[in-house]
Amino acid sequence: MHRRLIVPSVLAASLLLAIPASAADFKPGAPGIGDSYYPAYGNGGYDVSHYDLRLRYQPDTDRLDGTATLLAKTTQDLSRFNLDFLLDVSEVRVNGAKASFATSGQHELEITPAKPLAKGTSVTVVVRYSGVPSTKTAYGFSTWHRTPDGAVAADEPESAWWWYPSNDHPLDKATYDVSVSVPDGTQAISNGTLQSQSSKLGRTTFNWRSNKPQATYLTTLAVGKFDITTGTTDSGIPVVNAYSKDLGDNDGAARASVERTGEVVDWLSGYFGPYPFSAVGGYVPNTTTGYALETQTRPFYSQKQFASGSNVSVVVHELAHQWYGDDVSLKGWKDIWINEGFARYAQWLWSDSEGEGTTQELADYVYASHPADDPFWTIKPGDPGAENQFELPVYDRGALAIQALRNDIGDDAFFAILKGWPQDHAYGNASVADFQKYAEKVSGKPLAGLFDTWLFQPVKPATAAKAQARI
Ligand code: ARG
Ligand code: ZN
Repeated sequence: MHRRLIVPSVLAASLLLAIPASAADFKPGAPGIGDSYYPAYGNGGYDVSHYDLRLRYQPDTDRLDGTATLLAKTTQDLSRFNLDFLLDVSEVRVNGAKASFATSGQHELEITPAKPLAKGTSVTVVVRYSGVPSTKTAYGFSTWHRTPDGAVAADEPESAWWWYPSNDHPLDKATYDVSVSVPDGTQAISNGTLQSQSSKLGRTTFNWRSNKPQATYLTTLAVGKFDITTGTTDSGIPVVNAYSKDLGDNDGAARASVERTGEVVDWLSGYFGPYPFSAVGGYVPNTTTGYALETQTRPFYSQKQFASGSNVSVVVHELAHQWYGDDVSLKGWKDIWINEGFARYAQWLWSDSEGEGTTQELADYVYASHPADDPFWTIKPGDPGAENQFELPVYDRGALAIQALRNDIGDDAFFAILKGWPQDHAYGNASVADFQKYAEKVSGKPLAGLFDTWLFQPVKPATAAKAQARI
């Protein structure tokens, strides 16, 4: 309804300001960015460069109050545009003026600015909001994890909807300032560097800054009672780790793993090139979720990963994603192999260097342990389908494909690619097809057949990825 009411002012604005395009040329931004797996994720018509989030969280009631300020640039003449969000919005301002807003779909916040926005202009959007994230769902699910002493936002591909309004797709990366006020004695963890921390009126505010382009799902928030450790890697990267004070029997194993972050990140630089961000670390809240996540600069680990003792391999996996997934992000969610295949392969390289099985032995093991009629081979790592994005074949068959590539082009070209790729696409986005093109350029070999066999056929490749296949 508000949309109809705004029409006269749109006309008035274009006449008065003599905007060259007629009002009819100003169109709503698309409600999705165009992802083939998730058509409603992200939005069209603008590009965000920075998010400034000022949050206040109450651990006992799960109430979150926030003001998000987004700096963006329009990519078309816009009559209105969407953000993705679930909490209750009380006010939206666009370039300082009150805007009308409505909700639609599962997670769309439709914003109609008082004046239409011309293509290529800078826009500042302020959204004031509040809500109890644990009461919100989209498509029937929630990824907001409450803990005994707080909450955690860390999931893939969706996690932002529950705590900040965004253009929720990896194609639109931005820098972040995340400021969180919590009761004294409670900590708030996010990405990047802790710029400052201060207390007044019984509350402590933590100011985090992530100063390199970051995908929305890689932006994390954890509130709880944490023990924070700090250090520096041998190469000089500041390390900040955080452990829930409530990890019980898993506390020792969690620390024995995550405290090796500095060593692992420097070791990975040997394969992938310079670490792309200005801080690193990890955090282990009191959750028992079944996965870890490569939240930028500061991976999230579930204590479940440490239930059998130390697990440096998961630390290797999440830190490998800092290059493969975070620095170079996927273009569409169908390109998930760019993330998971390489993070798994990094675990194989670690195993190799620890004397726990070479990459070839692990590839042979994966090949042999799934017979031809195993449904494992029906999932194509190069295009697994949204429902299979995080299934084992994307990881294991995905890493097997990388060993096959290595055997085909030889170690010199292979390791040049591993290191060159993050440089070539630094802070950007890429697809599986882009990776194939890059590998062909560096190796000088046509690779369409190899990529098709290992990534795009729903059947077990006829021959194992043997080193001798090179001849
Ligand atoms: N990228 C994560 C990892 O492999 C996987 C996250 C899967 N998410 C999920 N809800 N299952 O490290
Ligand atoms: Zn992963």
